[in-house]
Amino acid sequence: MALEKFFSPNSVAIVGASRKKGKVGYEILKSMIDAGYEGGIFPINPNTETIEGHKCYPDLESVGQAPELVIISVPATTVPTVMQQCAKIGTKSVIIITSGFKEVGKEGRELEQRIVQIAKQAHIRIIGPNCLGVIVPANKLNASFGGELPEKGTIGYLSQSGALLAAILDMANANSIGFSKLVSIGNKADINELDVIKALAGDTETRVIAGYLESIVDGNAFVSQAEQISYRKPILLMKAGGTSAGAKAASSHTGSLAGSEVAYECVFERAGIIRCDSIKQQFDYAQAFANQPLPKGSKVAIITNAGGAGIMAADAVEQHNLGFAKLSDETIKKLAAELPAAANLYNPVDILGDALADRYEFALDAILDDAGVDIVLVLLTPQAMTQPAAIAEAIVKIASQKPTKPVLACFLGAGKIADAVKILRRGKIPQYDSTEVAVSTIKVMFDYLRWRTRPKRVVKLFPVNRRKVENVIERYLRRGVREIGEEDSKEILEAYGFVTPKGSIATTAQQAANIAQQLGFPIVLKIWSPEILHKSDVGGVKLGLNSAVEVTDAFDLMMYRIPKQMPDADILGVLVQQMCGGGKEVILGMNRDPHFGPLMMFGMGGTMVEVLKDVSFYLAPLTAEEAKQMLISTRTYRMLKGERGEEGVDIDTIAEGLQRLSQLVTEFPQIQEMDINPYVVGPAGTTPIAVDARISVEQI
Ligand code: ACO
Repeated sequence: MALEKFFSPNSVAIVGASRKKGKVGYEILKSMIDAGYEGGIFPINPNTETIEGHKCYPDLESVGQAPELVIISVPATTVPTVMQQCAKIGTKSVIIITSGFKEVGKEGRELEQRIVQIAKQAHIRIIGPNCLGVIVPANKLNASFGGELPEKGTIGYLSQSGALLAAILDMANANSIGFSKLVSIGNKADINELDVIKALAGDTETRVIAGYLESIVDGNAFVSQAEQISYRKPILLMKAGGTSAGAKAASSHTGSLAGSEVAYECVFERAGIIRCDSIKQQFDYAQAFANQPLPKGSKVAIITNAGGAGIMAADAVEQHNLGFAKLSDETIKKLAAELPAAANLYNPVDILGDALADRYEFALDAILDDAGVDIVLVLLTPQAMTQPAAIAEAIVKIASQKPTKPVLACFLGAGKIADAVKILRRGKIPQYDSTEVAVSTIKVMFDYLRWRTRPKRVVKLFPVNRRKVENVIERYLRRGVREIGEEDSKEILEAYGFVTPKGSIATTAQQAANIAQQLGFPIVLKIWSPEILHKSDVGGVKLGLNSAVEVTDAFDLMMYRIPKQMPDADILGVLVQQMCGGGKEVILGMNRDPHFGPLMMFGMGGTMVEVLKDVSFYLAPLTAEEAKQMLISTRTYRMLKGERGEEGVDIDTIAEGLQRLSQLVTEFPQIQEMDINPYVVGPAGTTPIAVDARISVEQI
């Protein structure tokens, strides 16, 4: 496994081990000792002989051997000297606890670069700086100042915030949650989030990877590798720091609706990462993945001693679109033979308020045997005669005898169920304090199963004319112009198989009327100026002109009014265009995220896109399935499919448009943002028209 020496070193030196209780260097040494670490511990401190009974060394060289792991906790300016000593003695794994590096500004950044340089030259790997340390309960290694060594478990945790990790540890210790490894990654000067996720993926002790991140170092590598890892182990992440502040000033609708938050959503979706909003939620989910098998399907069976709780859970099952297990006749017969006459034998199975452990045991056993059941949720409320602890024992016993289906518990209450909760946790039965949380955990397990078993992603490549697009883009970049004009945008779109409306530029009203007559009515006029991006905002679009007179009038009005409104705009004429009617207007768009590349957008088209915000995003390149999913996840989809007898539009051609656009922006990284708006689509058999497009490019 990678990072082996960080996780199971045979000896550890603590440089800056302090004599004084409460100081970081002291607490790390004390944590190592208290955890019962069985390897060699070498405190390094030139100012004392011993600390906590351990012989101290004035420096690393005096140890006489290279400790496999060195923890550095001396002031920042001293760290480079200690790193040089590490290089000299040949230690290859270093945790730097010290803060005061790139997080504090320019000087700290330079200091951090110096230590990275020393590390690179000596092939040393660094965790940190500015971190809490590393904890491996199974190896009795507590190389941190985060608190008591937690229990051994199967959750591997990484955190970009050391302080948050300390809170997680406290919470986990209070709730008997165990870990395989905990890594505080700090400033990620060398080892980053992906390195740790990869190490946890390869770690046989880790069943679930969980973590807290604020940033991702290499977006592309993260997406592709996290996706591979998610197939093997669930990844549950909390991600902070992604607000609209990340969205740059955008010229397209897509650009203004996208932002780093949207990008992370897309990345997590693509990579199968389960996003969590809070520590509690993360551990609610992690408990289930860490301790129970994945369900084979979504058919939930509920056992309860309380009708109300059963109904609440059943409602949640329905709201989350999970299935309800239909118990077999054989199971019903079995239940009928043992349960009181008043019991409800159908799912949710109500074993009544006076149920003791024997009833729970019997019902759970019978229901787990039913082939139509994928998951069992056991509910309990503590009545006067209820024995929560004995019932918990019974659940643990049956679930461990029949370990192929997940069993989750939801014991409601507080004081009366406290001991039972401990028994459930110790017995690896995830316990939830509300029916809603229990059922949403089931939903997350099922969604993960679905993601993992989805068909292999196949991105279709359409035959296109790349050379044509290359020429247009080069021409603009040579002139240093970012926004591609409407005619050239059309050329780009046509090269990638889109159909655009016919039309040409008129510089006089008479010319406009002639072109209109050739094209046939109705006609659209659009002001033609590189400076005017949002034409409708300045009255630069006139729709539905039905005669030569209407065309000349509209032409004259535009040419009179717009130069007054935008005196600096270079107006080159008016585009006289065929009017595409009879279809529905949607928008297809793309915004390039600086870390993760092109984010595709779909939504209801027209001028209201940014107001209605009924849009969906997905990371390019898109598969047919993903493109379709983008449509389905908007409200517009129902309208497109046709409501109340109204004929629907050709959904597949929209999905194909998104795939073509995805191919275009993947093949041309110079394209930074683009919208096709409106993209007019009609019923099956008609050709969608890319009526208007906005493309902006940048030299890369
Ligand atoms: N080699 C070995 N030992 C040394 C050396 C050296 N070159 N130089 C000093 N020491 C000894 C000192 O004598 C001292 O021991 P003593 O207390 O017995 O005298 C000990 O090392 C520590 O040195 P100090 O100068 O006293 O440094 P101090 O402990 O005040 O601070 C520290 C060092 C903790 C690394 C500090 O600089 C720091 O970065 N604190 C913040 C740590 C942190 O928060 N990290 C992020 C965690 S994540 C989160 O947010 C929780």
